[in-house]
Amino acid sequence: MITEEKVIDALRNVDDPDLKKDLVTLGMIKDLKVESKNVSFTVELTTPACPMKEMIHKACVNAVLHFVDKEAIVNVTMSARVTAANTGKANYANIKNIIAVASGKGGVGKSTIASNLAAALAKQGAKVGLVDADIYGPSAPIMFNIINEKPGMRKIDGVNKMIPVENYGVKIMSIGFFAETNQAVAWRGPMATRALTQLIQDSDWGELDYMIIDLPPGTGDIHLTLVTAVPLSGAVIVSTPQDVALADARKAIGMFKMDKINVNIIGIVENMAWFTPEELPNNKYYIFGKDGAKNLADEFNIPLLGQIPIVQSIREAGDAGRPVALQDNTVQSLAFNTLAQKVAQQVAIANSNLEPVS
Ligand SMILES: Nc1ncnc2c1ncn2[C@@H]1O[C@H](COP(=O)(O)OP(=O)(O)OP(=O)(O)O)[C@@H](O)[C@H]1O
Ligand SMILES: [Mg+2]
Repeated sequence: MITEEKVIDALRNVDDPDLKKDLVTLGMIKDLKVESKNVSFTVELTTPACPMKEMIHKACVNAVLHFVDKEAIVNVTMSARVTAANTGKANYANIKNIIAVASGKGGVGKSTIASNLAAALAKQGAKVGLVDADIYGPSAPIMFNIINEKPGMRKIDGVNKMIPVENYGVKIMSIGFFAETNQAVAWRGPMATRALTQLIQDSDWGELDYMIIDLPPGTGDIHLTLVTAVPLSGAVIVSTPQDVALADARKAIGMFKMDKINVNIIGIVENMAWFTPEELPNNKYYIFGKDGAKNLADEFNIPLLGQIPIVQSIREAGDAGRPVALQDNTVQSLAFNTLAQKVAQQVAIANSNLEPVS
C-alpha cells in the first residue's frame, strides 16, 4: 500500500542540486495526496527560473517509482516561491531581492543586460521590477518602448505613490520619465541619490520577486550612496573581455566588497564575448579578446553567469523597444534566458544561506 509517509521518505532521496539538501528538508513538498496508486504533490522551487526544473521533476517521479511502488501514477506540479533577501526591511518589505547591474566602464552593455535580464525573468514567470538609475543616459524607456509614457500617481494609506510603467510584464521606473530626452540631466551627488532612492521608495511596486537596478557607469559618489541607501541582495558585474573594461570591473567589484558596503557579488557577465554574424551563427570572432571576464571570475572566485555574444539583433531589439530575450528560441534569446536562470539560481543559493529553512 502507498502511504504519504512512504512517499515523503522516498522524496528525502531527491536533493536540490543547488541548495544541496533534500526537498523534504527544504520544505519544498506541498499538497501531497495519495489515493490508491495515484500520488500527487507540488514541488515549490525557489525561483520560476530554475534551470533544474525538468531534472528535479524527473527525479521526484523516479524516487516514488523506485522506493515506493513501480506501478504508482505520479503527478508532480512544479511551482515556485522566490526566497527573499529583504525580510522585514522598512520600505522594502514587498521586494524580495534587489539586484544591481554595474560595470565600472561605460558602454559595456549594462542596460542591455539589465533590460534583458528583467524581461527574461518576467517571461519565466517571476514578478519583476526594473529601475533605470542612469541619470546620465536613461535607456529603459527606449528599450521597453515606453518613451511616451509617464508613471501615474495613487494614494496609498494617505501617501502619494508613483505607479511604475509596465511592459512585457516588467514594472519600470526610470529617471528618464522625469527629464526631457534631449536635456542633459545635470544632477550631482546628493540630489541624484535622493531622486534615485525616491524612484525606488516612493513607487507602488506591489510584490516583486526581483528588482533589477541598472546603474550608471562608474564607481563614484552616486554609486556609493545608492548601494548603501538601498538594501541590495547582490550585484551583477558586466564587462567585455577587453583589458580596459576588466580594470574598471575590478574597481566595481572592489566597491561592492568594501567593508561598510559588503554587497554580495552574484557573478560576472561577459558581454560582447565574441561577434557572431546572424547568417553564420556558428562563427565566433573574438574582437574584444577572449575569455577576459571569465578569467576575472576565476580570479575572484565568483560565478561566470554567462557569455553574451555581439549580435546585431541584440542592438536592434533594444533600439526597437522589445528586448531580444522575448524572442522564441533564437541563440540571442537563449543566451539571456540562460543568464536569467543563472542569476536566479545564485540568488536562491545566497538566500538559502541567509534564511533558516524549516
Ligand atoms: N551583446 C550585444 N550585441 C550587440 N549590441 C550590444 C550588445 N550589448 C550592448 N550592445 C549595444 O552596445 C551599446 C551600449 O550598450 P548599453 O547601452 O547596454 O551599455 P551601458 O553599459 O548601459 O552603457 P552606459 O554606460 O552608457 O550606460 C548599445 O547600443 C547596445 O545596443
Ligand atoms: Mg546604460
